[in-house]
Amino acid sequence: MSDTRANKRFRSQEWFDNPNNPGMTALYLERYQNQEFTREELQSEKPVIGIAQTGSDLAPCNKIHVFLMDRIKAGIREAGGIPMEFPVHPIQETGKRPTAALDRNLQYLSLVEVLHGYPIDGVVLTTGCDKTTPAMLMGAATVDLPAIALNGGPMLDGWWKGKRAGSGAIVWESRRLLAAGEIDYDEFMSRVCSSAPSLGHCNTMGTASTMNAMAEALGMSLTGNSAIPAPFRERMAMAYETGKRIVGMVYDDLKPSDIMTRAAFENAIVVNAAIGGSTNAPPHLQAVARHIGVDLHVTDWEKHGFDVPLMVNMQPAGEYLGESFFRAGGVPAVMGELRKAGRIHDDAMTATGKTMGDNLSGWESQDTDVITTYDAPMRQNAGFKVLSGNLFDSALMKTSVISDDFRQRFLSKAGNEGVHEARAIVFEGPEDYHDRLNDPALEIDENCILFIRNVGCVGYPGSAEVVNMQPPDALIKQGINHLPTVGDGRQSGTSESPSILNASPEALVGGGLAYLQTGDTVRLNLNDSTMNALVPEEEWQARVDAWEAPDIVSQTPWQEIYRTHVGQLAEGGCLELATAYQKIRHTLPRD
Ligand code: FES
Ligand code: MG
Repeated sequence: MSDTRANKRFRSQEWFDNPNNPGMTALYLERYQNQEFTREELQSEKPVIGIAQTGSDLAPCNKIHVFLMDRIKAGIREAGGIPMEFPVHPIQETGKRPTAALDRNLQYLSLVEVLHGYPIDGVVLTTGCDKTTPAMLMGAATVDLPAIALNGGPMLDGWWKGKRAGSGAIVWESRRLLAAGEIDYDEFMSRVCSSAPSLGHCNTMGTASTMNAMAEALGMSLTGNSAIPAPFRERMAMAYETGKRIVGMVYDDLKPSDIMTRAAFENAIVVNAAIGGSTNAPPHLQAVARHIGVDLHVTDWEKHGFDVPLMVNMQPAGEYLGESFFRAGGVPAVMGELRKAGRIHDDAMTATGKTMGDNLSGWESQDTDVITTYDAPMRQNAGFKVLSGNLFDSALMKTSVISDDFRQRFLSKAGNEGVHEARAIVFEGPEDYHDRLNDPALEIDENCILFIRNVGCVGYPGSAEVVNMQPPDALIKQGINHLPTVGDGRQSGTSESPSILNASPEALVGGGLAYLQTGDTVRLNLNDSTMNALVPEEEWQARVDAWEAPDIVSQTPWQEIYRTHVGQLAEGGCLELATAYQKIRHTLPRD
């Protein structure tokens, strides 16, 4: 062991080698010895490295980590650490009702409690499925122990009848075909299942690939971590290298607060636009920023990200899937191209122990059909618009997925580019939407905007991915595949719907959407980023005065706890009281 490693006293020694409290020390030693660890190593100068296991039978998107564990542990051992795997609360996006988003803060809490309450000096965060990545970063932020993210990686590309079948994307396509009567129930199932050919998370640039790209752009993983498909040999090598690296981070005391600075978040915002990333990224990164104590605001997404071009040709904004993205260079290639254009803060520190600029040196696109250069992108101005008005203080619009057809139909009527006025159709939640969408009495035509409310953090609870509503069957049969949609919930990162979502504050806590009525005229103006109900001031005020919050019924204790403490999506949907707990590794728990 090198000299710089000598005489370190790690936090775990407070458990395993504390002459001031022999009674407790013996109890810690005897029980950890009875599995595989010896007294000698537990009392040595080796750091204990926790491995937060997010994979399980209930969480198939992250199950690859069960098989990567040997390689992670081998890396930790190789570098002189003691690996200890532990489970955290599972989150499976496509398994958990009423929504996986409800559990992000629960997984966060469970990680914080483990990292604080056990003899752990550093941690490998196993990430993958949508909410697991932000939950892990949020927990690491609160505790501020050295931490490194290891993605499980996307699935192999899915194929259906000779065409790429992308996670989620094929669901949205198939449900339109089903509505139009072009396929039946069985073909629907077969089409969708073809998109998931192996272990791994969604193979589109949905929320999982986005959030892992964000972890990498923030500097919280090794270079190239996020895009390696789950079954590839490079994924096993990355697991080993990540295990090795975290030990060095502990010796160097390289902490999340050294890495996740304001510059790192600005890098992540720029990368999100360039990859055509998910609208779930803003609330998740906002939550991470709040737990690490970095000042970030929802408007930063338009300010730093809107003018960034779309450079990744991957579904839902493009054509390819995860395998092609990896072969074209993945996130470091995108960042390398952005860096050449001066869009990356080079000096941001990263988990490698080097700056982002050093990490990216020499990286560029290996296939410009999949990852473009900055100057010849797929589309200019691909970041989010952040809208406001009398319906909400803020809501996001992902412009990179707006099709030319949609632009022409809704946003560029003669002489009125970017402004759209339409009749509001208001649904009270997904059940109401499904019940009434095809009701002829609503007279939904192409001059309507569909609204959905009471599906935010408090309302749903957890904020549901339901804003990407499809038009009534009759309109789809006429070839109108999208209407503008607006809501206080979220939508899947795999959706190509040009929705206006994450509206904050949500209707259930009295946000403006609560007072909208079916039949109102609403104006969307993308030139000044506003959306307003054109209702006379007096009448609007009368509706506000008459409003009573709808009853909500929680079905589990956690739902009630969550609803009591959660904030709005624009503020990250955090447990508000949790944001007061920062860098808690400095407070040792009582013995
Ligand atoms: Fe888990 Fe998409 S459902 S990553
Ligand atoms: Mg989702």
